[in-house]
Amino acid sequence: MSFDQQRRDTMPDFDLSGRILLVTGGSKGLGLAMARGFAEAGADVVVASRKFDVCKAAASEIAQATGQRCLPVAYHVGDWSQCAELVDSTLSEFGRVDILINNAGIAPVAPSLHGVTEELFDKTIGVNLKGPLRLAALAAEHMPPGGSIINISSVASVRPTPFTAVYGAAKAGLNNLTKAMALEFAPKGIRTNGIICGTFATDSLRNSAADESSLDAMGNLCSLNRVAEPSEIVGTALYLATSASSYTNGQLISVDGGVLP
Ligand SMILES: NC(=O)c1ccc[n+]([C@@H]2O[C@H](COP(=O)([O-])OP(=O)(O)OC[C@H]3O[C@@H](n4cnc5c(N)ncnc54)[C@H](OP(=O)(O)O)[C@@H]3O)[C@@H](O)[C@H]2O)c1
Repeated sequence: MSFDQQRRDTMPDFDLSGRILLVTGGSKGLGLAMARGFAEAGADVVVASRKFDVCKAAASEIAQATGQRCLPVAYHVGDWSQCAELVDSTLSEFGRVDILINNAGIAPVAPSLHGVTEELFDKTIGVNLKGPLRLAALAAEHMPPGGSIINISSVASVRPTPFTAVYGAAKAGLNNLTKAMALEFAPKGIRTNGIICGTFATDSLRNSAADESSLDAMGNLCSLNRVAEPSEIVGTALYLATSASSYTNGQLISVDGGVLP
């Protein structure tokens, strides 16, 4: 066998031409970065979040930049009937879904465990845990073999803090669900994995930081000594979405700059 032939057989293929990505929270932050990156790799994309105008602007920008089809859909992740409508809209436009990224998330801060309201608890669990379960269950019904589900988790799922206790618990639940999904969907040829995110400089993080020096301080918590740019999640997500990771299932990959012990 020639070297060129061997290289063709062993080089991972990150081409997503002809594949359909559904990314929740795709209108900004990490979701937008992945929507852009996957469209650049050839995928058609469904961008979903609550605010239709923001989804529409993101979808237009991606379609214009990449020439891929891009559908904006307004939906609330915690509402199961809206999860069903989102999958229906995807099927009407594209006929199937190959890749689901459960990315939409919220991390409200409570002053203490006693300060956690029932509303905060229900909302945090609804967006980060209840919605992703339902959406994955519905999407998997229409996903062909070779499909991939990626759940976006957080360092808080394995290193809880008092302020983000509910968020951390919801993401820990998502880690657990990732493994259950991997077992249930594997016989259909669908793989499920998760990404444990460290600190990424998304708009919401920048807005919550008092100033640039507090962002720098967050960066000091990892061995690479900086916060990440949103685009730095794309490579790992592409790896998990493509045949490059064909023997990886039920795994949680940390993209956290090497969080310090
Ligand atoms: N940034 C970080 O440092 C970091 C660290 C660890 C984990 N993560 C995780 O990474 C994911 C993305 O975070 P991010 O920083 O990119 O967040 P972000 O910039 O705040 O974006 C969140 C996205 O989710 C959407 N969204 C929020 N609530 C929703 C709901 N109820 N239904 C549907 N969509 C909803 C938002 O759009 P609408 O407002 O239009 O709904 C937006 O598109 C989250 O799961 C987060 O927990 C992020």
